[in-house]
Amino acid sequence: MNAFVSKLLCLKIVLFFSVALGASEKSHEEISLFETLETLLSEGITSCVHEGGRAPYLLSGRDGTPYFIIKPKEERHLKAPQIEAFCYRLAVLSGLEHLTPETHLAHIPLPEFSLPYTENRKERLCSVQRYLGGTITLRSLLRKLFAEGLEIEPYIDREDFAAAILFTWLTFDTDAHASNFLVYPKYTEPLVYGIRKIDNGLSFPEKNEGVDNFLMHLPNALKEISESVRETIEGLPLEQIMTEMDLFSLTTSKKAFEQRVSVLRNLISRKGITYYEIGLRLLLLERPDGIELALSPSCPEKSPLPPAL
Ligand SMILES: Nc1ncnc2c1ncn2[C@@H]1O[C@H](COP(=O)(O)OP(=O)(O)O)[C@@H](O)[C@H]1O
Ligand SMILES: [Mg+2]
Repeated sequence: MNAFVSKLLCLKIVLFFSVALGASEKSHEEISLFETLETLLSEGITSCVHEGGRAPYLLSGRDGTPYFIIKPKEERHLKAPQIEAFCYRLAVLSGLEHLTPETHLAHIPLPEFSLPYTENRKERLCSVQRYLGGTITLRSLLRKLFAEGLEIEPYIDREDFAAAILFTWLTFDTDAHASNFLVYPKYTEPLVYGIRKIDNGLSFPEKNEGVDNFLMHLPNALKEISESVRETIEGLPLEQIMTEMDLFSLTTSKKAFEQRVSVLRNLISRKGITYYEIGLRLLLLERPDGIELALSPSCPEKSPLPPAL
């Protein structure tokens, strides 16, 4: 019996999102996620994803099937669980739900993590997300393609690439390196990999600084942005997104989010603009005159230089 089980009776899963929104009914997905979670916390197996006993934790069934990744609130990144959960909400609200695993907030007793920070605490706020089976990291895929001397571009699904790069513009993830994208074989003939984004806890900075978007380095980024990217940005339900940011304790990140959406809305009206150029222009936002630089006229021969690389 693992340590989770010993405290099962204190399990208090908080349907944070439903409660915060005053929703009277849980969605089917939420019911099923929380019911499965509750069962697994009593009957399942917990393990650490990394060696050394640190988060994230993997919650599996008795037969070893992985179901959930659990990340407790940590002293270093106090808002990370809320940010992870909000990123999923953002994906849902933007029509990009398939891109990132379903994630919610829950208070879960984790007695074995009685570090100084958690002393005398019976439970901790955690983000709980569905485990995406059948995936490997984008880093592993690139290693494989390089080893076999294959071109990258045709192996990455165009739609998923567009959705993933757009999602990282919106979240402004400061940790979107190649291992925080997962890929899976989406089509087999020819073989094409779909993309999923994980580990969103270091997104939504209070200023548009420190973004790290690995997808910009792929040849796929040199293409003109798709119509669906334009439509998604135009159609973002900004008011609702901003309301929910308050509910997820992200009020202080709203201004930066609004700023980059308004820059994006301007940039997508430019004929022929590529993912790469948009990415470079967003990097300029961290400069004091960032908005002006980001929106400077397009020059067909030269892209604007990123600041102090
Ligand atoms: N939802 C998920 N589905 C499948 N694997 C996951 C998921 N979340 C994390 N992982 C695996 O766990 C590893 C570490 O998780 P991650 O969220 O990136 O945390 P961190 O980088 O902070 O340790 C990932 O590289 C991936 O292999
Ligand atoms: Mg990671």
